[in-house]
Amino acid sequence: MSRRRKIYEGKAKILYEGPEPGTLVQFFKDDATAFNAQKHEIVDGKGVLNNRISEYVFEQLNRIGLPTHFIRRINMREQLIKEVEIIPLEVVVRNVAAGSLSKRLGVEEGSVLPRSIIEFYYKNDELNDPIVSEEHITAFGWASPPEIDDMMALAIRINDFLSGLFYGVGIQLVDFKIEFGRLYENDMMRVILADEISPDSCRLWDVKTKDKMDKDRFRQDLGGMLEAYREVASRLGILNENEPPRGKGPVLVKSD
Ligand code: TMP
Repeated sequence: MSRRRKIYEGKAKILYEGPEPGTLVQFFKDDATAFNAQKHEIVDGKGVLNNRISEYVFEQLNRIGLPTHFIRRINMREQLIKEVEIIPLEVVVRNVAAGSLSKRLGVEEGSVLPRSIIEFYYKNDELNDPIVSEEHITAFGWASPPEIDDMMALAIRINDFLSGLFYGVGIQLVDFKIEFGRLYENDMMRVILADEISPDSCRLWDVKTKDKMDKDRFRQDLGGMLEAYREVASRLGILNENEPPRGKGPVLVKSD
């Protein structure tokens, strides 16, 4: 397809060398995976929607002065980003109990948490991304104490801003996962938001009906994943009627 050098391929995205030093191209694939890729299907059109939704969210965050890796969208599936050194942690922010928190701690799904909770998971597929504490993070050198402070402060700002943004279009931000990277500029290093924010990495519920509008539709075999993602994009006002991402429906890639 292209002669660009591939830097990294993950489950849902590919990173290519960018046009200038210090930049990368982030390509959104149609692959949907869950349970560490034990469940894997191609959902035709998902990559296009996630590219647009993540572009919109990162642009809004850039606008409020929250530092992100996003520079601009290049085309339907690709965006230009700043090259960062990814911190090997998944930072999860939760407002409402769901998913692994409900399972692990027996808190009923849907109960509003007494306050927003931040969790860290060590990014390691072989270990199934285990939950870790700040003690583990600093002892093993995955991030320093000031970097943890920066990530937590940014995560809280992102949560407050996105909760309002989604609430304004009738969507409850239940929880989400973000990743951070180290950006080196001259002699300075700072922690900025990287990766993506999309219905793949958030739990989004319709405020009125509590319908799930995120990857749980795929994880829990509820059907209608692409339609739900399209509804999120449409409510955010970013769906271009001239280029509807047409889906043929999920195609099974592997199941074990
Ligand atoms: P969890 O309840 O399964 O721990 O998920 C918390 C949030 O993180 C949820 O919004 C989904 C998102 N998430 C990812 O983006 N990637 C993952 O690998 C996992 C496990 C969760």
